[in-house]
Amino acid sequence: MVGTFLCYLYLLSHYRVRVAGFVAVTVLCLLLQCGFPSRIEANMLSKKQVLIVILALLAYYWIKYVKQGPVYTTDKRLDGKTVLITGGNAGVGKATAIEFAKLGARVVIASRNVQKSQKAKYDIIEEAGNKNVFAMQLDLENFNSIKSFVKQFDKEQEHLHYLINNAGVMGIDGITDYGYHRVFGINHFGTFLLTNLLMKTIKETSKRSPARIVNVSAGLYKLGALDFDYIRSETNGYFSDLKMYGQSKLANIMFTIKLSKLLKGFDVTTYSMHPGAIKSEIGTSFQQSSILNFAYKIISPIFFREGFYGAQTIMYCSLDDNVTKHSGGYFSNCKQEDLTEIAMNDGASQKLWDISVEVTQKYLNENW
Ligand SMILES: NC(=O)c1ccc[n+]([C@@H]2O[C@H](COP(=O)([O-])OP(=O)(O)OC[C@H]3O[C@@H](n4cnc5c(N)ncnc54)[C@H](OP(=O)(O)O)[C@@H]3O)[C@@H](O)[C@H]2O)c1
Repeated sequence: MVGTFLCYLYLLSHYRVRVAGFVAVTVLCLLLQCGFPSRIEANMLSKKQVLIVILALLAYYWIKYVKQGPVYTTDKRLDGKTVLITGGNAGVGKATAIEFAKLGARVVIASRNVQKSQKAKYDIIEEAGNKNVFAMQLDLENFNSIKSFVKQFDKEQEHLHYLINNAGVMGIDGITDYGYHRVFGINHFGTFLLTNLLMKTIKETSKRSPARIVNVSAGLYKLGALDFDYIRSETNGYFSDLKMYGQSKLANIMFTIKLSKLLKGFDVTTYSMHPGAIKSEIGTSFQQSSILNFAYKIISPIFFREGFYGAQTIMYCSLDDNVTKHSGGYFSNCKQEDLTEIAMNDGASQKLWDISVEVTQKYLNENW
């Protein structure tokens, strides 16, 4: 019975769950386990069979809601539209690039590692059957790199319809030369500067066709209020690393809310979102601890989704017609979620904005 059940889990978790498929696999497992009945009798379900049906139902819900989640479908085509995905060479970003490319968009992925990005570019082209995929180098930790990236991007691309601020790091050490923790620097200040420098192109684009900005945050934004001293200090251990990551993801949300206000009157909307718990490279530095590595190996197959599912809420925020009235909102599992009061604190949000302008001042254009 255990063997049959494991086969059942394997079959279900390797394919998108559809009710018909679920019923077919369940019936097949029941027949394999309990034998093919020679004739149908009333009261034919034994205790064992009832147990199998209950386990099958539990497995169905676990796979559908924990391992997979909603899938966003659209019949829109994106031919002639340009999308920029930071961190598009791995994990959630790469999966998102594949989804955009499948719809015909011109996709630019931007990360630090050029070789990895070139390989990802060919993977995306092959999987999506769309040759309009380009890899560019960008280091969000380095303001000069951001500046020259934008210069190059503007030279090569005419428009920017979708900016997906996806690149992110967790669990790395150190302080930037402008005095903030590197995780906060990459996840927030880098994204802030990039978005600001691209704003002119985005606004120009929106005069002909609406544009959207999606900021990939995380449910861990709930770990606490923004602490302006903490984000300038070194971390000391895994919990402290997690807290720093949470601070940067909270900043992504505050940035989105503020941006949506500044963009009122333009055909540009912006959203923050949580992609779900996704198998990716982001927790790699945590895996250097043998205990955490062991825990990850056990937990990840049970709770973490494939990258494809991480891309779904990004696609929803980018393409769904109903979300535009929620500009500034936060989304998870392809629906809007209420934010905590801490995330909606106008005072902290304004302070974060002022600090961000101050930190990046030398590199900012007059784009607003
Ligand atoms: N995985 C999850 O469970 C999860 C959950 C919630 C939220 N998220 C969010 O989802 C986003 C994507 O994460 P992921 O899980 O897909 O992580 P990942 O597999 O580690 O991918 C991160 C991407 O960011 C790029 N990147 C890292 N540092 C960069 C920098 N300084 N400049 C430019 N690009 C940089 C990486 O490419 P290079 O190394 O080549 O630069 C890579 O393409 C992140 O914002 C993360 O916070 C993930």
